[in-house]
Amino acid sequence: AKGRALAGRKVLVTAGGTIEPLDPVRYLGNRSTGRMGYAIAQQAASRGAEVVLVSGPSALPVPEGVRIVRVETARQMREAVLKEYETTDVVIKAAAVADYRPKVVAADKIKKQEGEFTLVLERNPDILYELGQKKEHQVLVGFAAETQHVEDYAKGKLQKKNLDFIVANDVSAKDAGFGTETNRVKIFARDGRMWEYPLMSKSEIGGIILDHVQEKLG
Ligand code: PMT
Repeated sequence: AKGRALAGRKVLVTAGGTIEPLDPVRYLGNRSTGRMGYAIAQQAASRGAEVVLVSGPSALPVPEGVRIVRVETARQMREAVLKEYETTDVVIKAAAVADYRPKVVAADKIKKQEGEFTLVLERNPDILYELGQKKEHQVLVGFAAETQHVEDYAKGKLQKKNLDFIVANDVSAKDAGFGTETNRVKIFARDGRMWEYPLMSKSEIGGIILDHVQEKLG
């Protein structure tokens, strides 16, 4: 029904969670499965876009017609995204990027010791913020995973990261956010408009996000 509305457009989607190594056998991670981002990538491909999916570790099958770039850490995701950015028309950042990484990655497996163990973390780059700074013709869509003050925090990120749209999901709900087949989102546009949607499949939400993007592309 949506035809080939994105033919001739390059869409970059990020999905999954980054993982940050601690030693050769351990990492810090998060609960993102990649479902949300893979569903968006699949929808964009079905509308005729050239789709690049930059993905953290995920067990999901790669949607047909999608070029996958697999990464592990936030810094690897940043590099992969920046490499594609100039030639990209639309970026949709559904990935859950780790804000911090262990400051030191041990060369050998860390051994048990008596008492407490303190881990020092340092900040990762904010990829989406950097894309917002460099933005020229690109349409930028971010996600906001929140457990409280969803609307305020989402609008804050929209402004700070210089986005066109932000998709807010309340990840404290059982049927929305991480891991589920469904999600419940509010979409905020830069021009102040807001749309609130009921519980839907992640594919349907992918389609809705792309409808907004297409309107913006004109
Ligand atoms: O993968 P699923 O299991 O389907 O789960 C989907 C999801 C809950 C992960 C997804 O719907 C979602 O909300 N993704 C964004 C999660 C997140 O990290 O939100 P955030 O509020 O921390 O980040 C805001 C935005 O900035 C995001 O678009 C994020 O990709 C981006 N970001 C964040 C930190 C960072 N260092 N670099 C970034 O680019």
